[in-house]
Amino acid sequence: MALYEAAAEADVPEGGRVIVTLEGRSIGVYRIDGEYYAIHNYCPHEGAELCKGHIHGTTLPSNVAEFEYGREGQIVRCPWHGWEFDIKSGRSLFSDKVRTRSYKVEVLGGMVYVAIGKD
Ligand code: FES
Repeated sequence: MALYEAAAEADVPEGGRVIVTLEGRSIGVYRIDGEYYAIHNYCPHEGAELCKGHIHGTTLPSNVAEFEYGREGQIVRCPWHGWEFDIKSGRSLFSDKVRTRSYKVEVLGGMVYVAIGKD
């Protein structure tokens, strides 16, 4: 696994993301509550640029007829057909079997690095 420089911390807005190309892969680098996450900019449904989707939250498990909203800023919605993914893990919200790739991220000297390749 190798680390690739993705962006300066200052260039990734809190609650937002930047999209970078590293080793030929388009990757979205997100900042959520001061922590950084990276996912493949590719939707496993039909290949849309997932990271161009809106960032929002979702409804949480709750009692019947109750709608509790939470996880604001942790979910990205695909711009084509609306599939939703957890930015922290790359997993879809509707199936454990559907996900986009997530990458490990490290911050060194004010720069955000994304790990690509096998361990
Ligand atoms: S391409 Fe992403 S939901 Fe269809």
